[in-house]
Amino acid sequence: MALSEKNKMDVPQHIAIIMDGNGRWAKQRGLPRTAGHKAGSETFRRIADYCRTIGVKYLTVYAFSTENWKRSEEEISGLMVLLERYLVEALQDMEKNGVRFRFFGDLSRLSPKLRRLCEEASSRSSAYSEVQVNFCLNYGGRDEIVRAAMDFARDVAAGKRSADSLTEADFENYLDSAGVPDPELVIRPSGEQRTSNFLNWQSAYSELVFMDVLWPDFKPEDLDRAIEEFYRRSRRFGGA
Ligand code: IPE
Ligand code: IPE
Ligand code: MG
Repeated sequence: MALSEKNKMDVPQHIAIIMDGNGRWAKQRGLPRTAGHKAGSETFRRIADYCRTIGVKYLTVYAFSTENWKRSEEEISGLMVLLERYLVEALQDMEKNGVRFRFFGDLSRLSPKLRRLCEEASSRSSAYSEVQVNFCLNYGGRDEIVRAAMDFARDVAAGKRSADSLTEADFENYLDSAGVPDPELVIRPSGEQRTSNFLNWQSAYSELVFMDVLWPDFKPEDLDRAIEEFYRRSRRFGGA
């Protein structure tokens, strides 16, 4: 039975995806890398819709890392244009879709236009609660932790906090993901078996599923397979 027909209780509430393999997909077809990113953005739309159909509450996607600035200017600007296009569309359909958008990462390095779109998407959708998409843009797990540490230090300097009172739960409130439960499942397509600076804090006890399919080829059935794999795992959280 397809997951979409199964009980909604059977899916993890938070799935995170490293959308990888666009470049290789394009190369296989003799196309420019940007064509791979365009195909990848279409996959994202389909998979986000599917997640909603099967009742996933939070979907976090890695769209651009703090390391991805090492790529050519052409590739970077192609990616930024696709993101802008997606957000303009999402803003048009905002009321119809009812998806809450959040953005993880250091947005200060994005263009003013893209930053404005991100701010508008998160503020206009902040009241929606059924489904939430977290976009990781200029995101690095280490960068997120360092920025959180600086915010905490500023609160200490301002006398709002004492330096020796910090708990893990408090610290989480300084992260970009404040208020979002940790992902139960992190999926990386494309065959690479690493997390590449994605959700370092939040994935401490996530189940990692690595898949050989390239992101532009990723289908709802592949998400079903990852979820089935997730349910075969035995999660112990350090217990016996
Ligand atoms: C993922 O695909 C998209 C981004 C990192 C922005 P890649 O562009 O990394 O694709 P590969 O890994 O080169 O195939
Ligand atoms: C991770 O993929 C970043 C995104 C998918 C946005 P990369 O392709 O940048 O990671 P590496 O270089 O293979 O580790
Ligand atoms: Mg890659």
